Amino acid sequence: MMAGLTSSSLVLALLWALSFLAAHRALTGNAQSLPPSKFDGFVYAEHRVDSGTIVIEAFLDPVCPDSRDSWPPLKQAVDYYGPRVWLVVHLLPLPYHDNAYVASRALNIVNMLNTSATFPLLELFFKEQVKFYNAQTLNMSKASVVSYIANFATQVVANSLKSAVVSGFENTQTDLKTRVSFKYSASRGVFGTPTFFVNGFSLSDSDSTIDYDGWRSIIDPLIAAQGDPLSANVHSY
Ligand SMILES: *[C@@H]1O[C@H](CO)[C@@H](O)[C@H](O)[C@H]1NC(C)=O
Ligand SMILES: *[C@@H]1O[C@H](CO)[C@@H](O)[C@H](O)[C@H]1NC(C)=O
Repeated sequence: MMAGLTSSSLVLALLWALSFLAAHRALTGNAQSLPPSKFDGFVYAEHRVDSGTIVIEAFLDPVCPDSRDSWPPLKQAVDYYGPRVWLVVHLLPLPYHDNAYVASRALNIVNMLNTSATFPLLELFFKEQVKFYNAQTLNMSKASVVSYIANFATQVVANSLKSAVVSGFENTQTDLKTRVSFKYSASRGVFGTPTFFVNGFSLSDSDSTIDYDGWRSIIDPLIAAQGDPLSANVHSY
């Protein structure tokens, strides 16, 4: 009796281990290779970058209200500085925003089809964000949400590309690309949105939304210090 129990638990354990290996193999078989062929993120206003360009990385979630509120002043500041500043937006779909991953995937799909439609779509998600909150989509099936978001995203592309946006959700590559954004954010230790890095360093008050004057007070001293490197503000190090 005892021996019988032991051997059947052993069999169960082996089966469990085998199923785990099979699942693990299935997952890794489907995995995207890292690092990706291109740096993650959407570049706002492509221009030449040199060692003096100030690099802002913004980690945003398209269905996060704080990300939405942080965007207009950041955009205004980046427009003000022009080629002195380079902005890249990384998507971090937060797991407690039910539709963040699907919305982020829509952005990746649109970006692959028409780069210039990426930021218009991000702004459209921000503008009509309430439609995609957890409470508003509570009774919708996953399939209905995907179809709703796919059709929503077609607004920013020409008629000729609308069906490609919808079928983009059946393309594994667009899923893998969205996973890379998530993995990149996690690899940088980012766990909330919006989070901002300037020249590779996290801003200490990232969690609160920085207004236009706030951005000016962050960037102006960096530009001034570049102009006169010997008087750079070393005191705060
Ligand atoms: C979801 O369904 C419940 C039960 O029918 C209903 O009371 C609720 O108002 C619905 N919520 C939305 C957002 O449609
Ligand atoms: C690309 O996106 C821009 C901005 O939304 C839009 O004006 C243009 O018509 C789009 N082109 C195509 C082919 O979708």
